[in-house]
Amino acid sequence: MGRREQTRDNRTAPRGSVARMSIAPDETAVDAARVAALTAVEKAKLVERTRRSGEYFARAGAVMPGGVPSQFQKNDPWPVYVERGEGSRVWDVDGNEYVDFHNGFGVMCVGHANPVIAAAVKERMDAGTHFAAPTEGSIAVAEELVRRWGLPHWRFTNSGTESTMDAVHLARAATGNDVILKIEGSYHGHHDAVMVSVKPPAELMGDRERPNAVPYGLGYPSTTAAQTKPVPFNDPDALERTLVELRGQVAGLILEPAMMNINIVPPLSGYLDRVRELASEHGIVLIFDEVKTGAAVAAGGATELFGVTPDVVCLAKAICGGLPGGAVGMTEQLGALVADGRVRQQGTFNGNPLVMAAAQAALLEVLTPAAYDRLHAANAALMAGCDRVIAQYGLPAHTVGMGSKGCVVMATEPIREYRDYLTRIHHPLTELAWLYHMNRGVFMTPGIDEEWTLSVLHTRDDLRRYVEVFEAFARDVTAAA
Ligand SMILES: Cc1ncc(COP(=O)(O)O)c(C=O)c1O
Repeated sequence: MGRREQTRDNRTAPRGSVARMSIAPDETAVDAARVAALTAVEKAKLVERTRRSGEYFARAGAVMPGGVPSQFQKNDPWPVYVERGEGSRVWDVDGNEYVDFHNGFGVMCVGHANPVIAAAVKERMDAGTHFAAPTEGSIAVAEELVRRWGLPHWRFTNSGTESTMDAVHLARAATGNDVILKIEGSYHGHHDAVMVSVKPPAELMGDRERPNAVPYGLGYPSTTAAQTKPVPFNDPDALERTLVELRGQVAGLILEPAMMNINIVPPLSGYLDRVRELASEHGIVLIFDEVKTGAAVAAGGATELFGVTPDVVCLAKAICGGLPGGAVGMTEQLGALVADGRVRQQGTFNGNPLVMAAAQAALLEVLTPAAYDRLHAANAALMAGCDRVIAQYGLPAHTVGMGSKGCVVMATEPIREYRDYLTRIHHPLTELAWLYHMNRGVFMTPGIDEEWTLSVLHTRDDLRRYVEVFEAFARDVTAAA
């Protein structure tokens, strides 16, 4: 047995509340014509239910490209405009009520209009919201992030994009190298260095072992793709080969410890440990993009869950209790580069008092150890409900989840990396499930890439509603013609 296999075999399973995956035992082929017919019916229903959203969309189209503030909010035939949210619920502008499993792309683990967050923000509002001078709140939040992640130094940002951008700067500064390695199929925000091979089309991807670097959209310098190299997820051997081939050129590797933008793809046992070893052996900076997992899958995110500590952690979304902000954590050595200004980590709104007040309340008062226990139990119950439906109706699907996040993957085989996602997932079935949910009061992320996120304010009844709607979908889709 080679050294690598030994190392891998010696690894322990991830710690804490481990990623769970359950594959449906038996499978019923789904009739494509039936899926298409049901999809047409449900699409028409959605249009009928959301007429006012359609009007808003027509108005928005005159002043915003594509009628939306952010490309991610685009949807066919139009986005559902939300009027308000409270607890686990949201109401759209047509008056439809939904249980929210979208939760603002995983931001709202605290629940909507959580009174604890609201009180902290209101208090801060009355005492002034912005000085561009530090306030105590930033110290309290940084101290809590040190406690949760074990990295000694933190700076604040305004989004996940800024956090991963700062991480890339740190890696290049620390090594003097340019090349960033990333995982094929991962999204890390929309700055140049990481907008490569996010969702590469099959015909452009190239060889699996040495994938092409495919720009995601227009507007980047032509040199960008040459400085960012994709590697497949869950394959330490391919990573090692790439590091050997690019010896002396690589600054760092950025990865989501569990991929969360192609449904959820957990790391295989031992993968992150081996990645950690390889990064250290090759002297590159290991960056965990925990924008989605941070504070959502465990108090200390995937770093805690899988027991592997990187050199840099990128956070945003759930850590700020619903206000826009992010943070980047780093080792002593990297912190020294920031402290004396060799790496220019800065921004007018970094550590904004209002955002810090919300983050402090979220991390110290709402997302407590007991809250994580409840979130994990609720997620397990929701996955178990979906597993029962999948088994009962023989749906070609399985569930994957960790912490407050989970999803039904419309595939019988597990998804290990982006190329599995392209070939194994039944995309029309995924779209139809989304329509069923939206038309029956379950607010879910549009498209095929996302997962649900639970909040501390979700109730057993809310979970039941999800499973009931999923069962209606399963029954209709598998019913004999
Ligand atoms: C893993 C990951 N990293 C980074 C980002 C970018 O974060 P933001 O949208 O706050 O810029 C996202 C956004 O969804 C993400 O999913």
